[in-house]
Amino acid sequence: MSNVPWWASESFWRKTAIWVTAGMTLVLIALTFDTVKVITAGHSRVPAYEVINKRIYYRMNTKRKFQEPVIGEDAPLFGKMLSPEEAEAMVSHGKMTVQAKNCGSCHTLLGNGAYYAPDLTKAWLDPAWAGESVRETLMVQFLLDPTTNARGFGSTRRMPNLHLTEEEARAVVAFLKWTSAIDTTGFPRNFTPVAQEGDL
Ligand code: HEC
Repeated sequence: MSNVPWWASESFWRKTAIWVTAGMTLVLIALTFDTVKVITAGHSRVPAYEVINKRIYYRMNTKRKFQEPVIGEDAPLFGKMLSPEEAEAMVSHGKMTVQAKNCGSCHTLLGNGAYYAPDLTKAWLDPAWAGESVRETLMVQFLLDPTTNARGFGSTRRMPNLHLTEEEARAVVAFLKWTSAIDTTGFPRNFTPVAQEGDL
């Protein structure tokens, strides 16, 4: 018999590798289900679509050491309270438009995409929109004709006209209002949100 100790034997390491791989596969499956639950709309981190009926603030959380969205009082988008179904339809239409027009070829969204133009996740809260009362109108105007309505989002680059219809532009605004309410654990960093009444 060989005098190799059990812990150095080939069969011990082969069995260990098999058990560890099998165990970790199960852990990965469990984590996947857990993550899907957390990132589904309606969870505390990713609010339900009818959040677009609410005012969304961005506040520094001193404990977590980054800004997090706060859902405020009623503030219907384009002045109309939507049912959960209507809100979902509008946000989905906005998301489809963003995909169909490939906004990600210049922008990132939740960090995914290209680095030519600003990240859009918190665009709804961008101070460039001048103020809460005019923001949605200015956003639609900008999306319909970005060349004429550029507001200086911190670069000299210009966004081309992507020929959105007004309905598509409004849906994109709904989508961006919803993404701004996602708790992204502070992403993007050092983002200056629009001045909110009460903060001034
Ligand atoms: C060819 C590149 C390009 C594409 C494609 C593009 N954008 Fe832009 N976008 C820009 C640039 C550049 C800016 C900054 C413009 C400025 O500073 O005037 C911008 C700015 C914006 C802003 C303002 C960002 C902020 O920080 O408030 C929004 C909102 C926006 N784009 C939405 C979209 C949407 C929605 C699409 C797809 C329908 C899209 N963009 C496609 C280049 C692009």
